[in-house]
Amino acid sequence: MLNPNTRILITGCGGMLGDAVYKTFNPICTVRATDIDLNEKWLSSLDVRDTEALEKSIQEFKPQYLFHLAALTDVEYCETHPDEAFTTNTIAVDNAAELCRKYDATMVYISTAGIFDGRQDSYTDYDLPRPLSVYAQAKYAGEVFLQQFLQPRYFIFRAGWMMGGGPKKDKKFVNKVIKQLKAGKKELFVVDDKLGTPTYTNNFAENMRAVIDADAYGLYNMVCDGSCSRLDVSREMIKILGLEQKIKITKVDSSHWQKEYFAPRPPSEKLIDWRLHAKGLHRMRDWKECLREYLTEYDWGI
Ligand SMILES: NC(=O)c1ccc[n+]([C@@H]2O[C@H](COP(=O)([O-])OP(=O)(O)OC[C@H]3O[C@@H](n4cnc5c(N)ncnc54)[C@H](OP(=O)(O)O)[C@@H]3O)[C@@H](O)[C@H]2O)c1
Repeated sequence: MLNPNTRILITGCGGMLGDAVYKTFNPICTVRATDIDLNEKWLSSLDVRDTEALEKSIQEFKPQYLFHLAALTDVEYCETHPDEAFTTNTIAVDNAAELCRKYDATMVYISTAGIFDGRQDSYTDYDLPRPLSVYAQAKYAGEVFLQQFLQPRYFIFRAGWMMGGGPKKDKKFVNKVIKQLKAGKKELFVVDDKLGTPTYTNNFAENMRAVIDADAYGLYNMVCDGSCSRLDVSREMIKILGLEQKIKITKVDSSHWQKEYFAPRPPSEKLIDWRLHAKGLHRMRDWKECLREYLTEYDWGI
């Protein structure tokens, strides 16, 4: 049971998910939050590629849990820098897992819906991944290693299209649309041939807490209820922001954005949270409700 004496070391905590994870776990446990990008006063410096530094941090802080959030998450950057992608997203995970075993800490790893090839409509926790991009290959290699090496005491949580972190930290679709609006764009060109399941960071962190609290080890798909296309997300955003009369959304296919988003992506990365449901640990909410909550939580300056 998580309590104030539970010690959690978090890597990559300065990112969009780290923000929610910190806010969820810091009030109930003893947390040391780290990142290479020190964008908050509660962060201390730790580069996960530096295994000696990670070991030193574990020796000093003596965590019961290592929440390993650190990753290179720009899919195009990973595609053009595969060595860096594998060093950060796989080898550092491998080394962290070894340290968890050595110091008896439970590892928590965040994986992605992007590890599937999209030939199926949707994927349960038990479907076989076939990653297409370098990012997805590197993340999946981390999953496989953890499962082999830390069996049975690990947690792997697979997220979908992440929404969270606000204007400062959100690097993904919601903030990309917001940035276009802020730049004065009156027409948005959005793809309808990419399907997925949005995942609200605050809701994801709450569900992580429920699963970890229950000591229900293993791998979980963990995405919001409902699924959609990118086009659906943009339409919902414009509706929530009350901009329907001002902004036109034009439906395009992925070839429209091929130059900017050249890394291969599955046509569908829709996940089904089977295991969470089966174990009575499902706390994920409807994606539209979460999107509304997320957009109203911040001043986006539009
Ligand atoms: N965003 C999504 O849609 C999504 C979906 C599924 C799974 N995930 C996974 O969720 C986890 C959290 O990602 P996120 O969405 O919060 O992305 P994020 O905002 O990019 O956060 C990742 C954090 O890790 C940091 N980092 C990168 N290299 C590092 C290193 N060598 N040592 C320590 N920290 C390092 C990043 O710093 P920089 O910003 O300086 O790179 C960033 O602050 C990742 O494991 C990611 O693969 C994300």
